[in-house]
Amino acid sequence: MTVLATSVFRPGLLDGQVALVTGGGTGIGFGISKLLAALGAHVVIASRKPAHLAQALEEITAAGGKASTVMLDVRDQERVAASVAEIVATHGRIDVLVNNAAGNFYAPSATLSPNAWRSVMEIDLYGTFYCSQAVYPIMAQQGGGRIISTSMTLHYRGWPLMAHATAAKAGVDALTRTLAVEWAPQRIRVNAIAPGPIPTEGVRKAFAPPADSGVPDVFAATERHMEAYAAKGIPLGRWGTPEDIANMVAFLASPAGDWITGSIFVIDGGEWLAKPSA
Ligand code: HXC
Repeated sequence: MTVLATSVFRPGLLDGQVALVTGGGTGIGFGISKLLAALGAHVVIASRKPAHLAQALEEITAAGGKASTVMLDVRDQERVAASVAEIVATHGRIDVLVNNAAGNFYAPSATLSPNAWRSVMEIDLYGTFYCSQAVYPIMAQQGGGRIISTSMTLHYRGWPLMAHATAAKAGVDALTRTLAVEWAPQRIRVNAIAPGPIPTEGVRKAFAPPADSGVPDVFAATERHMEAYAAKGIPLGRWGTPEDIANMVAFLASPAGDWITGSIFVIDGGEWLAKPSA
């Protein structure tokens, strides 16, 4: 598969494994789905949007990967449980869960509506819990599994206009550490990744600041400005890619991660350490 042409991972690394990737049809999630499929896993791509599912499925299968889709809103606990039961009925197992689905946007806390707060908390935090809880019995019964959740770095110092998302992701970090210890006896490894700035379409939308907020929209800037921002604001001098994140997920999903649990990996070219505090 073309994805493997430049990959450090060996072909067949995840042969016979089943991976569920929420929000796996676009952006970072799709990068993860593609790499796991290229390494031999059967990837179940979950998304709320049928168009995202169809396109992702076609691309992965055209490249020779094994994949299927499930239409799923991770906020709906009953649908999450039913979807996991369907996957197990079809494939017999779930080895890897990637909690990638997220919803974020810039908005002033003073006027954030209850529904806006709830939407982001429910996608980012509740969804991560619902999916993790749903795969627990099957992973425990199999003798183990890997859960990898998506966090961020903006809550390390606080980030104006993102109270909802920073609170949710701080919760994801806490959940990761707690489940790691609670489920270690079942050999379920629970880790998280904290991506830095990756200019996918979803991130560009989420990081479009409200008008008159005074926050620069770095993602809407011209190519030249984007390059200048990366050169100045990201110590490693470039924007991230979905592949940068997918590589860490593949590492954690593989036996290379066998003694890693409860860890949160920042993958950001050093951005958060260098970023001036908000
Ligand atoms: C204020 C907003 C808003 C905004 C939505 N709302 N956008 N409030 N400012 N920009 C409010 C709505 O008015 C509504 O409240 C409530 O939020 C729910 O909105 P809906 O559109 O009805 O919800 P829904 O269709 O479920 O969409 C959920 C969503 C949406 C989170 C609002 O943005 C979404 O689906 N996003 C998914 C994709 C995404 O955001 N990906 C970004 C990932 S980037 P009221 O009160 O009006 O009913 C990421 C960054 C990583 O995670 C960090 C890198 C550093």
